[in-house]
Amino acid sequence: MVLNALRDFETVWRGAPALQQPRYPDPDQVSAVCAALKQRPPLVFAGEVNELQHLMAQACVGEAFVLTGGDCAETFAESTADHLKLKIQTILQMAVVLAYGGGLPVIKMGRMAGQYAKPRSADTETRDGVTLESYRGDAVNGHEFTAESRTPDPHRLMSCYQYSAATLNLIRAFTQGGYADMRRVHEWNKGFMRNRAYAKFDDLATAIDAAMQFMKATGVPSDALRTTEFYSSHEALLLEYENALTRVDSISGDLYDTSAHFLWIGERTRQVNGAHVALLSQVKNPLGVKLGPNSTPDDVKGLVERLNPEGVAGRLTFITRMGASNIREKLPPLLQAGKDTGTPLVWMCDPMHGNTVKTGSGYKTRHFETILDEVRGFFAAHEAIGTVPGGIHVELTGEDVTEIVGGTETIDESALANRYETLVDPRLNHQQALELAFLVAQMLAQAKPGIQPADLENFPALGF
Ligand code: PEP
Ligand code: CO
Repeated sequence: MVLNALRDFETVWRGAPALQQPRYPDPDQVSAVCAALKQRPPLVFAGEVNELQHLMAQACVGEAFVLTGGDCAETFAESTADHLKLKIQTILQMAVVLAYGGGLPVIKMGRMAGQYAKPRSADTETRDGVTLESYRGDAVNGHEFTAESRTPDPHRLMSCYQYSAATLNLIRAFTQGGYADMRRVHEWNKGFMRNRAYAKFDDLATAIDAAMQFMKATGVPSDALRTTEFYSSHEALLLEYENALTRVDSISGDLYDTSAHFLWIGERTRQVNGAHVALLSQVKNPLGVKLGPNSTPDDVKGLVERLNPEGVAGRLTFITRMGASNIREKLPPLLQAGKDTGTPLVWMCDPMHGNTVKTGSGYKTRHFETILDEVRGFFAAHEAIGTVPGGIHVELTGEDVTEIVGGTETIDESALANRYETLVDPRLNHQQALELAFLVAQMLAQAKPGIQPADLENFPALGF
């Protein structure tokens, strides 16, 4: 039975065209590694995935807000306890601010524990007359520009599994063992607020502090604050890997992709008849699909039909990444198309990928103001159509890198060189990520007029 279910699953997706797959020199090696992966234990469990699915259903109707954050591309080298801790810490800090602003539970999701593969616009890269395979993430090849390093190596799929397992282990320890206690997260936020550059957030920060005091005074059980749920997610790009980690749940008999709780399909691989859609249509995990500025209302309808034919609330999330200059014009027709399907959907805003620019000195960057503007446009579009702004999806790191221009601690173009470390897309640093959280919390408070935790008149820059 189990074998039949997995065989049918595989036949379906292998029958569809697959874009963005690595060109491995030896297909037999790929089969051998994947056979070994199939013997490894699952990274996540059906019960956890189902819980996330239920939470996502709340996000469909505005009863929860989703925060996804993490690197554009995780790397094996930076999967150290220190780097991971700072990243988790940043996401938790943002979540407290957003939860307060929105008066909503925040579903916390890392682009973590599996975000090791990247789609690329070109298959090859040429430097000084030498052409090699493009870097496709540590799960595929090395970043170093040598023929050896750039040749796709299937053994990296096993490393991807192992780094993912170790990362998840740390996430579970932090979030279940007391490190992520909300009172501690709040103390970290007080540390952020000690920088007087952020005095403009004093009202909101003070209100959060008062809420914490109130909880203490009224005796909210300590256990409720001590632990939190934190889910893993990545772009399900490498079909062989996702296939090897797909398992039949012994209780329900359903298929689950056990590589992460939540999986998304990228803008470049979301063809309705493509292999990525075919693979993920068959697993029970909650799914995301990225939608760029060329997406059409028919794309939305086709994807809903294919990925959520039964209209299950929380099953499908559209992660829009239109670009700040497009969003006000291009998002509303897509929201309307989604609404017309009658299917409950989660809509998230990725304000990063439509706003990447190159500086004169050659750095790939994004401007903080433009990112913020896309989020503003996202809220405005939902208000116009009467749909729910369900979450944000951002690229960030817990460290003080200098990859994105702007923010209150202004990083200008000349400062980018100081600490530009990303191998793919530029990320918000710790301060910028928190600042964004405070600003989005204000938008959430505004979008839910019943809840006014802070004095919005102090925020003229937001244009309310
Ligand atoms: C990404 O999320 O890193 C990415 C490649 O996004 P998109 O598919 O939206 O281009
Ligand atoms: Co990216």
